[in-house]
Amino acid sequence: MISVGLIGGSGYTGRKLIQYCNLHPEISNLKVYGNTTVSKTILEIFPELQNEVSDSEILPVDKLSFDHDVYFIAVPHGEALKYVPELIEKGKKVIDLGGDFRLTNNKVYERWYKINHTAPQLLSNNVYGLADLPTTDYTNAQLIANPGCYPTAALLSLVPFVKNYTDEIISVNVAAYSGTSGAGKTPKSHLLMSEMDGNVAAYNLGAHRHEPEIMQELAKNGFNSLFAFATHLLPIAVGIYSTSFIHTKNKIDKEKIEKAYKEFYANSNFIRLRTSPPQLNWVVNTNYCDIHLSVRDNQVIIISAIDNLIKGASGQAVQNLNKMFGWNEGLGVKQGEKYESVF
Ligand SMILES: NC(=O)c1ccc[n+]([C@@H]2O[C@H](COP(=O)([O-])OP(=O)(O)OC[C@H]3O[C@@H](n4cnc5c(N)ncnc54)[C@H](OP(=O)(O)O)[C@@H]3O)[C@@H](O)[C@H]2O)c1
Repeated sequence: MISVGLIGGSGYTGRKLIQYCNLHPEISNLKVYGNTTVSKTILEIFPELQNEVSDSEILPVDKLSFDHDVYFIAVPHGEALKYVPELIEKGKKVIDLGGDFRLTNNKVYERWYKINHTAPQLLSNNVYGLADLPTTDYTNAQLIANPGCYPTAALLSLVPFVKNYTDEIISVNVAAYSGTSGAGKTPKSHLLMSEMDGNVAAYNLGAHRHEPEIMQELAKNGFNSLFAFATHLLPIAVGIYSTSFIHTKNKIDKEKIEKAYKEFYANSNFIRLRTSPPQLNWVVNTNYCDIHLSVRDNQVIIISAIDNLIKGASGQAVQNLNKMFGWNEGLGVKQGEKYESVF
């Protein structure tokens, strides 16, 4: 049994982590740390979780206890840099849901996040925790960088193709769509219902921080072709829908591509290969990533759908915890699916 410290438990991803930690049979103790919510209780912030989770006070993060075995960090980017170095030095295991440890080059981080990276020495030994890839290596993992929500959706759908057909690829273009919870709980005027209801809007074109993350991970699998990434907001709270358009030098048989995907994901419990394009409704409130492929001439279209707060954040984080400890990857997460959330 382990004790868990959750830094940033009052946000959207923190809420899911509280649910999963309460359901997890190997977690005996959970303490939640916060910033502006300190001294409120979990159930004051999330009354809908009554009878589902144990209540306790949110503790001040500046009085963080180092008694826990594992720390989930679910705070805005830049903030994890304040806590992770000391936790690592004290031998603790850390799973960071933010972007501070995902990019392996601190200069690339600084360019895209406009923040000075104060712990570049930790960037080479961490694990990029794309939990459903059979190639993710958890040997001696101490710091896991939980992938971003868009990168999770895009990479799970693209990595098997890139691995098998790198030399065939002319270009990959990704159009991805997210619900508004992807931006967190802090109020922002452009996310008000009166702005987003009935609306769709592209944003951060050419400037989204998830673009270098996707390119970094595709490059690890041999990708060095043209790439473009466009992000859009949908008038919904939860979900990410990612459509990748790939142009290839030659036509590749659909059956061959599908076979490659089936083999690659043969032991991945949370990947579902679909014969028709998935709908967000199929994955919201689950830890699944649904993937569908279509091929015509030299054009391959690959679609994936996930819940950004679960597969794109907290579900994957708990999956990473389980893999770190060698437990069944569904512990805590799978049981969570019977719960209907407010999202
Ligand atoms: N939302 C998503 O779909 C998603 C998906 C993947 C990854 N992520 C990443 O996960 C992290 C959390 O996202 P979220 O959507 O849960 O955010 P959120 O709803 O805005 O919650 C932010 C949390 O961070 C805490 N916090 C804010 N400033 C802090 C500080 N200076 N020191 C300590 N804690 C601080 C807040 O505590 P108080 O309420 O007590 O102030 C709150 O618990 C972010 O890095 C985000 O990029 C989010």
